[in-house]
Amino acid sequence: MGTGTEANVNREFWKEAVVYQIYPRSFMDSDGDGVGDLRGIILKLDYLKELGVDVIWLSPVYKSPNDDNGYDISDYEDIMDEFGTMSDWEELLKGLHERGIKLMMDLVVNHTSDEHPWFIESKNNPDGEYGDYYVWRDAAPDGGLPNNWESFFSGPVWEYSEERGQYYLHLFSKKQPDLNWENEKVRHAVYKMMKFWLDKGVDGFRMDVINLISKVDGLPSNGTAPIADGSMYYVDGPRIHEFLQEMNAEVLSKYDIITVGEMPGVTVEEAKKYTAEERKELQMIFQFEHMRLDGGPGGKWDIVPWKLPQLKAVMHKWQIGLAEKGWNSLYLNNHDQPRMVSRFGNDGEYRVQSAKLLATLLHTLKGTPYVYQGEELGMTNVKFPMIDEYKDIESLNMYNERVTHGGADPGTVMAAIQTRGRDNARTPVQWDDSEHAGFTTGKPWIGVNPNYKTINAARQLGDPESVFHYYKELIALRKKHPILTYGDYELLLPDHETIYAYTRTLGDETWLTVLNFSTEPSVFEWPGNLGSREATLVIGNYGESDADRNEWRPYEARVYKLN
Ligand code: GLC
Repeated sequence: MGTGTEANVNREFWKEAVVYQIYPRSFMDSDGDGVGDLRGIILKLDYLKELGVDVIWLSPVYKSPNDDNGYDISDYEDIMDEFGTMSDWEELLKGLHERGIKLMMDLVVNHTSDEHPWFIESKNNPDGEYGDYYVWRDAAPDGGLPNNWESFFSGPVWEYSEERGQYYLHLFSKKQPDLNWENEKVRHAVYKMMKFWLDKGVDGFRMDVINLISKVDGLPSNGTAPIADGSMYYVDGPRIHEFLQEMNAEVLSKYDIITVGEMPGVTVEEAKKYTAEERKELQMIFQFEHMRLDGGPGGKWDIVPWKLPQLKAVMHKWQIGLAEKGWNSLYLNNHDQPRMVSRFGNDGEYRVQSAKLLATLLHTLKGTPYVYQGEELGMTNVKFPMIDEYKDIESLNMYNERVTHGGADPGTVMAAIQTRGRDNARTPVQWDDSEHAGFTTGKPWIGVNPNYKTINAARQLGDPESVFHYYKELIALRKKHPILTYGDYELLLPDHETIYAYTRTLGDETWLTVLNFSTEPSVFEWPGNLGSREATLVIGNYGESDADRNEWRPYEARVYKLN
């Protein structure tokens, strides 16, 4: 691996940027209906500017019956009523651009809503223009389902349509039928829609489960069990690279934009293909391996403790895997994951320190950092005691299947939802200590985390020691120092159980990050070649003055420049 120098790195805006994800339903409500909206985001533009982020990724704002909070789209070229109008959206884009912030839209094209006109036509008129837009199959010869794949949201992936007398495929909810990407007309309809938004001035796309769009011919069952994981037949499927190259040639290459593909189950080998610049597919992808470290053999709801050496190993594999070709995205949470401080840090006594420590990790590894709304405040998981306070279809379907129909112990299932459920990330952003955390003057669509009196933006904006200010500092640091973007990465102490340490090197400059993932102090033994160099603290979460050279305090994070 050659050592990068400032002269030979290929500088790109999207590599140097920090992206901030907005989940509009929970960001800010401007009109008191309890649901966040576009004008709510407009009210907070100066907050985003102050934080210093370069790009907003906006989760879906398109027309939707909201079976899966906007990830079920019934009109790709219009705005959801609860979120506002197209002119609100235009004003938002203008407000962002005036502040030098770009806007990335969510592109959800593995599936539509079952209320999309394409689907309605498809089920009512099999021989018509849209007849082949979705994945339709007859029942199996024995009268059973076409195959045994299990949906991400529990139950089979097949739903029967009375109108058409056939089953349609839905990897997600039954209100999210999968589009048939084998049909060229579908692909071109998607490209046309993408151009619609690009011509309106959007700066990029985050592509929802984009590595699931190509399914293996014949949709074979996995074994003979009545229901089984079918992902080997649609993750990184046979035509996926062809489809993405076509999309690139038809659309992406014609605009100067940012692209990131969400890719559950993707491997490093495939990721290299998706992101190698000369292959002309995507710039970055979201991989999921580190999100699986606390899942047991039973999957995401089978929760096991994660271990630091494993986290390091996974991140290392990706850092090294995409070092020469491709590019990493860096995230520890989003709207589908629990809050990172509750999962990988400590949301009790060391909440502030551990939120800053995790932020240090995200901003000093190699890749583009993604900050999820509220992360910059150190927001935590919520523990709603009752199932009816949860809103997410994934959690509700799972509860229904296991408790209502399966006789499982409700306490165990509730504990899994409280730890792992997606609603942990979807409680409203905590703006201040007024009622409903300043998110709405009405009744919020989902409960506010009761800790908003102490954890909120108003309080942190005025406190230079806050998590918010630390994020601001890290983001500014990345802008100033190309080493954080382009420097080569090298891991130290892979097996250490509490210390996570690595260097970044660009030309003759080396930076060292050392993080203590523990509620106890940890000793960091400086490796000989580094220990002899003079170290200047660049940023740390305990302040500078009283740092011991070898002992890291609970959740202490320090980044040094070595001279
Ligand atoms: C992605 C989204 C998630 C959604 C699913 C189906 O994983 O991030 O929120 O439920 O795709 O669209």
